[in-house]
Amino acid sequence: MRDTHHGAARRLASTLGIALAASLAAAFPPVAATARAVPQDAAVAGQPAHAPRQRILLDDGWRFHRGDPEGHSAAYLYDVRPEVTVSADGKVADAMPEEAARVARAGTPVLKAWILPSGNAFIRDPARRHARPALDPAVDAPFARAAFDDSGWRAVTLPHDWAIEGPFLTTGPYGGMGRLQTWGPAWYRRKLDIAASDRGRKVFLDVDGAMAYASVWVNGHLAGGWPYGYNSFRIDLTPWLQPGGTNQLAIRLDNPPESARWYPGAGLYRNVWLTKTAPVHVGLWGVTVTTPEVTPASARVAWQVALDNDGSVSASATVTTELYVLDEQGRIDGKPVATTQSGPATVAAGASVIVAGATTVARPRLWGPPPTQKPQRYALVATVRQDGRVVDRYETPFGIRTVRFDPDRGIVVNGEHIPLRGVNNHHDLGALGAAFNVRAAERQLEIMRAMGANALRMSHNPPDPQLLDLADRMGFLVMDEVFDSWQRKKTPLDFHLIFPDWHEQDLRAMIRRDRNHPSIILWSVGNEVGEQYTGEDGAAIGRELVAIAHEEDATRPATGAMNYAKADMPLPGTVDVISLNYQGTGIRTLPGQFPMFRAAYPGKVILHSESASALSSRGEYQFPVPGVLSAAVRPGAGGDPATRQVSAYELFAADFGASADRAFASLDQNPYTAGEFVWTGFDYLGEPTPYYEARSSYSGIVDLAGFPKDRYYLYQSRWRADLPMVHVLPHWTWPERAGQVTPVHVFTSGDEAELFVNGKSQGRQKKAPYAYRLRWDFVTWEPGEIRVVAYKDGKEWARETVRTAGAPAALQARADRTTLAADGRDLAFVTVRIVDDAGVPAPRAHDRVRFTVEGPGELVATDNGDATSFESFQAPERAAFNGLVLGIVRTRAGAGGTITVRASGAGLRGTAVTLHSQLPSTKAGTLEFRPGIISQM
Ligand code: GAL
Repeated sequence: MRDTHHGAARRLASTLGIALAASLAAAFPPVAATARAVPQDAAVAGQPAHAPRQRILLDDGWRFHRGDPEGHSAAYLYDVRPEVTVSADGKVADAMPEEAARVARAGTPVLKAWILPSGNAFIRDPARRHARPALDPAVDAPFARAAFDDSGWRAVTLPHDWAIEGPFLTTGPYGGMGRLQTWGPAWYRRKLDIAASDRGRKVFLDVDGAMAYASVWVNGHLAGGWPYGYNSFRIDLTPWLQPGGTNQLAIRLDNPPESARWYPGAGLYRNVWLTKTAPVHVGLWGVTVTTPEVTPASARVAWQVALDNDGSVSASATVTTELYVLDEQGRIDGKPVATTQSGPATVAAGASVIVAGATTVARPRLWGPPPTQKPQRYALVATVRQDGRVVDRYETPFGIRTVRFDPDRGIVVNGEHIPLRGVNNHHDLGALGAAFNVRAAERQLEIMRAMGANALRMSHNPPDPQLLDLADRMGFLVMDEVFDSWQRKKTPLDFHLIFPDWHEQDLRAMIRRDRNHPSIILWSVGNEVGEQYTGEDGAAIGRELVAIAHEEDATRPATGAMNYAKADMPLPGTVDVISLNYQGTGIRTLPGQFPMFRAAYPGKVILHSESASALSSRGEYQFPVPGVLSAAVRPGAGGDPATRQVSAYELFAADFGASADRAFASLDQNPYTAGEFVWTGFDYLGEPTPYYEARSSYSGIVDLAGFPKDRYYLYQSRWRADLPMVHVLPHWTWPERAGQVTPVHVFTSGDEAELFVNGKSQGRQKKAPYAYRLRWDFVTWEPGEIRVVAYKDGKEWARETVRTAGAPAALQARADRTTLAADGRDLAFVTVRIVDDAGVPAPRAHDRVRFTVEGPGELVATDNGDATSFESFQAPERAAFNGLVLGIVRTRAGAGGTITVRASGAGLRGTAVTLHSQLPSTKAGTLEFRPGIISQM
C-alpha cells in the first residue's frame, strides 16, 4: 500500500502532539461564509476594467548610488549597531560563539519603529504587532524626494549586486565575506507612473530579496522596510502614492560589515515587482494547497485562500478554483481537471478571511524526483468574484506527492525509498555574484543533476523564489533553511542583532512563501546555532521555532543542523528530524555520532545535513601524496601556503570534515540514515578555508566557474551507479617528474579496474568493502598515456585514457547552449580549453585568454575557478587556471541574431563559438510562472 501525505502528516502531528487541521488555518482564523448581500465597495464600483491583478516586473529604469548624502548616514540607521571590536574573520564555524552583543541605546534616532510594522502580517499575537508612529521620522532624506535630481546616478537593471564589481580587498581580514566590500549604504531610485484609474486599487511593492536592511521611501515618506536580506517582503505603497502622475520610489539598503560568514552580495539582487489589486484580493502568499490523501486512483487536493479586504466597507466574495495540469515549462496545459465553487464569504473592511475547499483529482500525475519519478505539477487558479465580477485571479503551482519520513530507511517519496544525494549551496552564482539569474541557477542544477544529485539544502537562508521553481521543475528534494544564527552571534553584526524582534516574522514569511513547492520536504530553523551550547535555554528557542514551523505548515517536519549538540543534550529533542553536520561521520578524534542519535531517537529520521567539507583546488596535484584518506590540510600535506592551493587528490578535508569517501562509509555503515547534503556542490565566494587570504571556497565539488573537480566523479560513481563511467587522476603532464612516484587514483561506478601506463599493466584492483576509490600509489611517471579499464561483475564497463600534453598551442571553445532567448537575461557559458598542437588538453596552462563578443550580446563576466585569483570578474581577459577559462555572455533584450564569441591568447590559435539569440523570448529553460499577470512597466 502506498503511503499517503495524510498519513505522514498525521504521524508527524501525533509525534508532535499538534492538531493536524488546526495549524494551517491558525495563521488566518476562518470566518464562516454567509450569503449576505453587502454594499459594493465604493472604491471599486465604476472603475474602468482592469486586469483583476497586475504583477509588473520593476527591473528596469533604476538609478543607483553608493553612499548617503554627506553627513546623513547616522540618520537612516534601522537601529544602533554595536561597535565592532573583534573581527570574526577566519574563525571556524563550529567554534563556541560569543554572547550576543548588547546594543547600547544612546538615544540615537533610529528608523526601526517605522520598519517593524512591515512585518505585522507575520506576528501571530495581535498584541505584539507594531503600530506605526503617527508622524514620519524626523529625518531629512534628500535622496528620497521626488524633486531630487538623480540623473547623475548610474542607470542599472535588476537583479543587481553592486559588490561583485570589487575591487577585491587583497589585504586585511576580509576573506570570510569573499574579499569584496558588501557593506555600506546604497540607494536605488525609480519613477513609478501610477494611472489615475489606479485610484482605489491597492498597490504593493513586492521585493524578492534586498541585501540588506531595506527601507522603502515613496514620495519622500518612509513606507516601511525589511532588515533580513534573504527574505521576500511586501510593502503597501498605497497610502503614499498619488495616482494620476509620476511617483518617486527610493530604496535604501545598508548591509553591515562583518555580518556574514560568506559573501552576502549587496543591493536589489533579486526581482522587484509592483502588484496592483482590487481592495478585495488574495493576500500575500495567500493560497495554500495541500494533498491530504493520495492514491494511484485519486488525490484529494485541499486549498485555503486568504482573502483580504483592504477597502473601507464589508464585502461578499466567492472563490472559484480550477485545477490545471502544468507542462514541463510550468505552463497551463489544456482544460481544468477539477473545478470548485465556494459559497459567498463575508470579509469585513480591514479584515481577512480564509475560504477553504477541496476537490479530487482522478489518477493524479505525481511529482517525484528523477530518474525513477517525474516532477509533474499542477496549478490551482483561484478566481475571486464580487457580485459576479472577477476581482482577482491567482495562480498557484503545486505538486501531488507523498513524503514519508521513515526512521529505519529515510525519505520515502510516493512509496519509493529515495536516498538523499544532496548538496549544500550558498546563493552566489560565482562571477555573477548574488544577483539572481534563472539560467545561471539552472546551469548549476544541471551540473549537479549530471553528477547524480537529487537534493539541495538552501544553506543557510531563504533562496530566490525562482530557485525553488527550478527545483520543482527539475525534481530536486529541498531542505529550506531560514537562519544561520539565533540570539548568539557568529559574526559581530549578523542576524542575532535582530533575532528578538524578527525571528517570528522571518520564519513565518519563508514558510508562507514557500509551502506550496512540492520540492520542499523539510524546513530547517537554523544552522549550527550558538544555542547548541546553552542547554535548556537554547532548546527553548528551538522549541518555539519548531512550533512556528508546524503552525505554518502541518505537512512537513522541521529540523535544525547540529555540529555540536550531542544525543544527550536538549536541542535534538526539539526537532522532528535529526540533521547532523560532520559529527555523523565523526570529527577527527570524536567518533561518528549516528549510532548515538539512533539509540536516543529511534523514532526520528537522521540525516547528514553537512557532510565532507572536503577541500581541493581543481587540477592542483601536490607531492608526495600521503597514503591516508581524509587528512586535515597542512603545509606540505594537502596544502601549499605559498600558492594557497589544496591538493586535488581528493584526500583532504577541513579540520572538522572528512573526504567524500569517508563520509560515504559512515552512511553505509549506518544504513538507517537518510543520506547526505555535501558541503558544498559549488565553490562559493567567501569562507576560503584553509587560506583566508583567498577569495572563494575550496569545498566545492565543482569550482567557482562550474568546472568539475576530480571529486565530482567520485560522487558520480556512487550516485549514478548505473552510468558506466571511470575517471582517472592526476593529469599526465609532469615533465619534471620523470622517474618519480606519481600515484594514480581511479573513481568508477564499476567494481574493479586495471591501470596501464603506456600499455603496461600496473595491476587490476577490486573495491574493498567501504572503499570507494581504487589507488595505485607507486606508479612511476613517464611521458605518454595512462589508460584505465573498469569492470563490473567481471565485464568491461568503462575506460578512459589521459595523455601527456605538449606546449599550449590552441584554444577550443564550447558553449553550454547555442540557442538563447533574446530577453536580456539568458546566458551562454562558454568554456575555453587550452590544448597542445594535437588537441590534447594542456592541464597546467595558465595563458591569458581574451574574449570578444560580436552581435546582440555582451560579455558579462569571466572566471577560471582559481580561489586565489583577484582578477576582476568583469574583465574581458584573464589567466587560465589549469587549462580552463569561462566567459559568460548575455543576450540583449529584444535583439535577436547571431552572436559570435571569440577567444584569443598570445601565441595560441584562437577560436570562436556562434550563438543564436531568438525572438520572441519563449525558450525552454526560462521560467516565469510566478502567480498573476506579468508585464514590464
Ligand atoms: C559548517 C557550516 C557551514 C560552513 C562549513 C565550512 O560548519 O555550517 O556554513 O561554514 O562548516 O566548511
